[in-house]
Amino acid sequence: MNRARPGEEEASRRSACAPPDPSAASVPGTPDRTHRPAGPAPRPTENTMEPHDPSTTAASTAHRETVEVLLPGTVSPEGLEIRRRTPDSPGPGEAAVRVEATGVSFAEQQMRRGKYFDQPPFPFVPGYDLVGTVTEVGPGTDPSLVGRRYAALTKTGAWTTRIVLPAADLVPVPEGVDPAEAEALVVNGVTAHRMLHRLARVRAGDTVLVLGANGGVGSLLVQLARHAGATVIGTASARHTEAVRALGAVPVDYRDPDLHTRIRELAPNGVRAVFDHVGGPGITASFAHVARGGTLVSYGTAATRDVPGNPMLPVLKLFARLLWWNALPNGRGAHFFNLWQGKRHPERYRRDLARDLGTVLGLHARGALTPRIAARLPLSEVAAAMALAESGTVVGKVVLLPHPRS
Ligand SMILES: NC(=O)c1ccc[n+]([C@@H]2O[C@H](COP(=O)([O-])OP(=O)(O)OC[C@H]3O[C@@H](n4cnc5c(N)ncnc54)[C@H](OP(=O)(O)O)[C@@H]3O)[C@@H](O)[C@H]2O)c1
Repeated sequence: MNRARPGEEEASRRSACAPPDPSAASVPGTPDRTHRPAGPAPRPTENTMEPHDPSTTAASTAHRETVEVLLPGTVSPEGLEIRRRTPDSPGPGEAAVRVEATGVSFAEQQMRRGKYFDQPPFPFVPGYDLVGTVTEVGPGTDPSLVGRRYAALTKTGAWTTRIVLPAADLVPVPEGVDPAEAEALVVNGVTAHRMLHRLARVRAGDTVLVLGANGGVGSLLVQLARHAGATVIGTASARHTEAVRALGAVPVDYRDPDLHTRIRELAPNGVRAVFDHVGGPGITASFAHVARGGTLVSYGTAATRDVPGNPMLPVLKLFARLLWWNALPNGRGAHFFNLWQGKRHPERYRRDLARDLGTVLGLHARGALTPRIAARLPLSEVAAAMALAESGTVVGKVVLLPHPRS
């Protein structure tokens, strides 16, 4: 097993990412394609059954074998393991799904560091969301599901060729939609849509500030806000300013020492909403940009991804700050968005998810929303996919294809 040792994490990340080749990622407006990004191929791990390619094997032995990715502990991307096992059978109310696309989310970057606040104990199969086709149903499950394409939000477990899920968790994907594009809209699309329309209630004529406007969530936030008629200021690293401009936002380099002066020049009266996934000390500056009547929407603590210590601490610190700001009589709101809020009421949660994902997929079908896909890689190249997602060189989402040749 290729576990990262203290002090090796950065070095192994660099070697897995090197050379971070921006050209490996598709540029907005350019059709993406399945490809191997530049950089070394992932090393076989002790569970990898070489030499056959999991993707081809999976296609030919779909009913005999499930191929999945295991996160064994706090490891570098190369420490991810590929495991083969006997497929589970769907039980009552369940469906077996042949996974066609699953994504690399920021959450997995945190999980492999043991920094995602409610990740399961190691080892486990990561994978936050998926799109796939039902191949089999359990007793009492509607047999008409078989052969249809669905999306699901799983938090973990989706990096696999086949998964068994409660049928009630499946959200229909319209016919003709590319599975990878649909996948890039599940966690990211629902998150962006809810933050924009349910929490911040952004309207035509508003100005909003989106941090990380080229990212998976950020690029969708920009498009949805533009579709709603808002003006968007989007932060990104300098290499991504053109991509952010192409999405319809005014780009600002987040490393510019005059970042906040520049934002104030663009929005002298403040903005209706700030969407901040970075957290850390910079959240104070984000709140300062919120105009009276506006809202700070915090939805992550990316700034503390590499900070050692209890993963809950930065989250608790952030919550305390937001609560305090929200309580102040300053006419400005400060909220934390959590996609899993309401999960304790599963029926309502499923209904709301189906409605919001349906809205997002509908916007996609009408051409109002185009998910940015940085790369499509076979599941067997998960280490390279993870390294690419973490490289800071890409625009949009890295998508894994468990059955790339079918
Ligand atoms: N709360 C929830 O329910 C929920 C749900 C979904 C996602 N999330 C959170 O959403 C965040 C984004 O996820 P993702 O999958 O979209 O990630 P992603 O695709 O990896 O994008 C990350 C973005 O962050 C930008 N960035 C990095 N450092 C920054 C800084 N100091 N200031 C501003 N931007 C910075 C990157 O810009 P460059 O590439 O230009 O460096 C990139 O655009 C994560 O923190 C994730 O945990 C939360």
